[in-house]
Amino acid sequence: MHWTEKMFVAEPDLFRASLEARIEKTPEEIEGLVTIFNEYGVPDGGLVLDLACGIGRVSVPLAKLGYTVVGVDLSPSYIGFAKDYAEREGVSDRTRFIVGDMREVEKVLSEYLEAFDIVINMWTSMGYWDEETDLRILRQCLSLTKASGFFLMHTANRDNLVRRFQAHDFSISDDGIVMLMERELDLETSRMINFWSYYRKEGEDLRFLDRLEVNHRIYSLHELKEQFIDAGWRFIAVYGGLNQRKLTIDTFSMVLVAQK
Ligand SMILES: C[S@@+](CC[C@H](N)C(=O)[O-])C[C@H]1O[C@@H](n2cnc3c(N)ncnc32)[C@H](O)[C@@H]1O
Repeated sequence: MHWTEKMFVAEPDLFRASLEARIEKTPEEIEGLVTIFNEYGVPDGGLVLDLACGIGRVSVPLAKLGYTVVGVDLSPSYIGFAKDYAEREGVSDRTRFIVGDMREVEKVLSEYLEAFDIVINMWTSMGYWDEETDLRILRQCLSLTKASGFFLMHTANRDNLVRRFQAHDFSISDDGIVMLMERELDLETSRMINFWSYYRKEGEDLRFLDRLEVNHRIYSLHELKEQFIDAGWRFIAVYGGLNQRKLTIDTFSMVLVAQK
């Protein structure tokens, strides 16, 4: 089973907790996202494709601001959560959540006739397969977008990941889940291979829950820029985060903006 199938479909709950925890940080991200939309003229209330939308963490707040959002994600569990989240927030009429594989997003959206003002791909949601697959996804998104429409990708900054590479790390969440992270960096393929072991705190003891693999291609700016151009997009901007700071070797994330 490919690691994405295990982590997001077969055993979605452990990572869903991380997605839910990130909802708290999302208002700041939405503010940055909308500032960038406005900077490049994405229309107010435009039509957004949230590619790999997860639990609707970004789609739902955008819909609350008046955008119409279609979210596609591989995980039936996350899509179920996204629909409930939209309903709770009163935006079911401006959202549509679809279970589907972004590697065949054109087919997934074949009955959806309207072209998008912008495609967003948030929180390092590509690079899960090989470069050729990512290229095919970018090409499909080009054909799903209006003339002069946009693609915004928010992802990890490889050069920073390499600079601050730590082979071991851990985290403890408020609900007592301890996560041990082991990382390998394959310099030949530029893939980061992570093993995340989850434990529940029980008094002084840790009870093992599961071990998940996350294996993804990490891209430098110049590589992603080339991918966009090869896919037929015009590369127009890059930032070192959604707050539009300058991209440097010290910024954790990068935000790329491309136009059709
Ligand atoms: C790191 S999470 C980010 C979720 C969301 N973009 C966010 O910012 O909250 C990656 C997401 O990619 C989804 N995903 C993985 N493989 C996919 C595929 N082949 N097609 C669509 N979604 C996929 C996962 O289910 C998961 O929700």
